[in-house]
Amino acid sequence: MDKKQWNERIKLVEEALVKELGKDKALVPELAASMEYSLTAGGKRLRPILLMAAADAVGAKGTDFVQAACGIEMIHTYSLIHDDLPAMDNDDYRRGKLTNHKVYGEAMAILAGDALLTQAFEVILRQPHVSAELLLQVVKEMSIAAGPNGMVGGQVIDMLSEGKRISMEELRKMHMGKTGALFRAAIRSGAIMAQADEKQLEALTTYADCFGLAFQITDDILDVVGDEAVIGKPVGSDERNDKSTYVTLTSLEEARRLAADTVAQAVEALEVFGDKASFLKELVEMLLERNK
Ligand code: IPE
Ligand code: IPE
Ligand code: MG
Ligand code: MG
Ligand code: MG
Repeated sequence: MDKKQWNERIKLVEEALVKELGKDKALVPELAASMEYSLTAGGKRLRPILLMAAADAVGAKGTDFVQAACGIEMIHTYSLIHDDLPAMDNDDYRRGKLTNHKVYGEAMAILAGDALLTQAFEVILRQPHVSAELLLQVVKEMSIAAGPNGMVGGQVIDMLSEGKRISMEELRKMHMGKTGALFRAAIRSGAIMAQADEKQLEALTTYADCFGLAFQITDDILDVVGDEAVIGKPVGSDERNDKSTYVTLTSLEEARRLAADTVAQAVEALEVFGDKASFLKELVEMLLERNK
């Protein structure tokens, strides 16, 4: 996929997100403003892009699934708003702007997060051209991924591990939860809506798990060596909060090696798709060079 097509997809998602919020018709304009602030603050929109790319790999048209793609971006944005709160990572910048609670206050930020999470499911359920049966599967994927056995569970391991030295196994579990779960749900949902067969779904799940792990390893690396102006969030947040990360438990060098190994595994999983997965391959390989 060339850069132009990629940007067009991001634009499709961003326009749909604003439309979904329907700020002008909202019950509470202040709440809608807080939700819109974080949703439109930028961000790489990777989960929507991956959801659509997985559908493409299976032979469907990824852009048919913008509605579900918006839903997962809303869940992700909620997770970021809460992750930045003073009780959690206590960060002041996100996506190049002040964090939600810095602008709207803690109570509104918590509620904007709650609102994005719940509205996401209604948005997903209005995905056209997909049977009710498949949509139920998608909702199940996303709710499990966002919940106690997925993102929230991973965030709790992260919190309980502050100031401790955890095992590599525990660290992997934490990463697969806090970050991997939503990537897995994005990719599997795209594949499910595109009516993937068992073998395709299995291959894409392996790809997704490797993508999520490699993504969080590179996020940990960027927290140390990243440029704040480029990543749009503070560097050194993990150190300040005494977090367990791939960098703190191993070293920068070892974390880079692990990320590269994991990306290679992701690429291997795509073999069954041939050329159809060239964009997915490009996306995961990009992780090793990313600076934001
Ligand atoms: C940041 O995710 C949170 C993690 C899971 C590490 P992204 O790096 O995808 O954040 P945005 O959406 O581009 O802001
Ligand atoms: C949290 O990981 C991932 C989420 C579930 C939001 P981090 O705390 O490392 O994410 P960043 O670095 O603040 O984006
Ligand atoms: Mg965090
Ligand atoms: Mg954080
Ligand atoms: Mg981080």
